Amino acid sequence: MDIQRLLSEMSLAEKLGQLTQLNANFFKENEAEITGPASRLDLDPADAANAGSVLNFDGAATMRSVQEIAMARQPHHIPLLFMQDVVHGYRTIYPIPLAMGCSFDPDLMEECASMAAKEAASGGVNVTFAPMVDLVHDARWGRVMETAGGEDKTLGCRMAAAQVRGFQGDLKKGKIAACVKHFAAYGGAEAGRDYNAVELSEHTLREDYLPAYRAAVDAGARLLMTSFNTLGGEPVASNRHLITDILRGEWDFDGSVISDYNSYREMLKHGAAETEKEAVDWALSAGGEIEMMSALTYRFGKELLDEGKITPEQIDRAVLRVLRLKEELGLFDDPMRGATPEEEQRICLCAEHRAIACRAAEESAVLLKNDGVLPFSDKTKKVALIGPFAREHGIKGFWACHGRDEDSVTVEEGVRVLLPDAEITVCGGCSHALRETDISGVADAVRLAREAEVVVLCLGEFQNCSGEGNSRAILELSPAQLSLAAAVAAANPNTAVLLFCGRPLAISDLADTVPAILTMFQPGTEGGTAAARLLFGKTCPSGRLSMSFPYCTGQEPIYYAHQSTARPTPDPHEICEGGYVSRYLDAPTAPLYPFGFGLSYTEFSYGELKASGDTMTEKDSITFTVTVTNTGSLAGKETVQWYLRDEVACPVRPVKELVEFQKIELAPGESREVRFTVKEPLLRYHTRSGEFASETGRFTVTVGPDSERGQSCAFTLVK
Ligand code: NOJ
Repeated sequence: MDIQRLLSEMSLAEKLGQLTQLNANFFKENEAEITGPASRLDLDPADAANAGSVLNFDGAATMRSVQEIAMARQPHHIPLLFMQDVVHGYRTIYPIPLAMGCSFDPDLMEECASMAAKEAASGGVNVTFAPMVDLVHDARWGRVMETAGGEDKTLGCRMAAAQVRGFQGDLKKGKIAACVKHFAAYGGAEAGRDYNAVELSEHTLREDYLPAYRAAVDAGARLLMTSFNTLGGEPVASNRHLITDILRGEWDFDGSVISDYNSYREMLKHGAAETEKEAVDWALSAGGEIEMMSALTYRFGKELLDEGKITPEQIDRAVLRVLRLKEELGLFDDPMRGATPEEEQRICLCAEHRAIACRAAEESAVLLKNDGVLPFSDKTKKVALIGPFAREHGIKGFWACHGRDEDSVTVEEGVRVLLPDAEITVCGGCSHALRETDISGVADAVRLAREAEVVVLCLGEFQNCSGEGNSRAILELSPAQLSLAAAVAAANPNTAVLLFCGRPLAISDLADTVPAILTMFQPGTEGGTAAARLLFGKTCPSGRLSMSFPYCTGQEPIYYAHQSTARPTPDPHEICEGGYVSRYLDAPTAPLYPFGFGLSYTEFSYGELKASGDTMTEKDSITFTVTVTNTGSLAGKETVQWYLRDEVACPVRPVKELVEFQKIELAPGESREVRFTVKEPLLRYHTRSGEFASETGRFTVTVGPDSERGQSCAFTLVK
């Protein structure tokens, strides 16, 4: 297809249509009567016929009928782009991205994204609104479940690029385009409340929040979505500095920019624009292109052009990008891209995909506490499964649009398959309502616990308690779940908690009462299978936290890569008695479980950290080596984490930052030497003068199993 020529033949309405994204419902409407979504957007069906893309549709059959209707109506028969949130799977759902981050395994992340692309493409999806790469420091924010980087930018960059590679590949059959979101800093919502304002210095924005979007752009993401929030008082949808100066200017992004749902119109709600026309003027002038679900570009584009507020070249450039993507995806040759209900049925939830989802759930579970009760023996004859998640199918997590609860393997089902001969009893004990106080079911639970050899206590928050619009102010478990845990653990010391959650929860009370806690987050379709395999020792847990678990909600936001206060507490794990230090009177300042933390069924020891030198210049490097040994009796995986600190700089640098990690597998008794090389570019930061440069001076490298423990080595950069 000669898209330049096509562009030259298109009317202005057709061009503005390519920049308009509508819900699939618009194409189901009766042309004669304008009701429903079209009337709410002040569009008639003829306008909808010009739309360039669609979101929210239900599989290949719907896609085919919508595509047919749309192409027949569109004057040049231009196919639609079908976009959808394929965030952690399409029908086969893998763990929520926050959990995938805990795998510290970008290759696995890529494999999962690739599987999701294959299923989604078979269902007619052309573009996924993923990866979501927002950095988050506050676990109260519900959308923390969507980000594989959690609180860390290095993990965020690796996982962002892996997802883009997995979704897109060569963009041919079985692949879909990636739309990185939400640019920028949406995860910095004040008080962890969704859609709330974000206040960040330019320095922190560039140092911590922007790198993951950049990594996705550099990995070739074809689209980028702007965010709902204001940043420094300016709605991001109309933020020229971000979209035009940074994204286009500094990063050379040449894909399409799309707004988030209705966010042009929400500029009126923010109080930033007086009229809809003013809102779209600002959004387009800032660099906005495709508009999701508000159609203001379509309605006011001509007026803005006539008034010289936007230029025809600007519109042509944006339309050409849309047409180019359609061309790249092969839509002009095959508008259905081979998607049929039969193909969708054949590919989705196939055994191969379920196996990948199971492996992902195993690799992303994190063992937080184990006083020796786990793993349970696979010869166990009597198991009690207690708690509101024992029989719960709703463990796939939020943002699994095409996923179905009934496809998920429950804990009960997983354990029954693994231990076919065991006697298994099940009891809810209490509900998973957030502030549940009804403990009338605890007595039954205690009875079952007493009668069983081992108890699996399935606690946590339900899948719709995180995700968009679902922030929480209280991260502690409900009074009923805590009572249940205390009573059951007292009745049977062989109790392990399986924790289901879409964010870090504040579980210090739970950790005080039960001997073992394995967090599954929301593990997806094969959650119950993976949980059973981990509990009964078929797999050794290897996940490491992508985000700190706070000691209590009041510590939020809490993250390891913070700056040093001039008055730190002597021991951040203890409540400090002395005054005039940076402390809480009623809680420690350290989290309960820090970033990078996770236990195993085996033990690893680290040999002495060695460095190839202690001074380097811009031209050379220093290599650090450490030998890691599996000193336990089971094979297992260790994630070796390398942190860096720039000791003296202004603006000051964080107390440590993850700069590299390696996940290694070791047999019992096996040792491996692990290396990490520092070169000058790694030492650069945004200096006081705004440059991205390194400065001479002292640095420290630390290697260890998490962000709190490790051995350090100092070195100096000279120029
Ligand atoms: C709003 C969400 O913020 C965004 O992440 C999502 O992609 C769109 N809705 C479309 O569903």
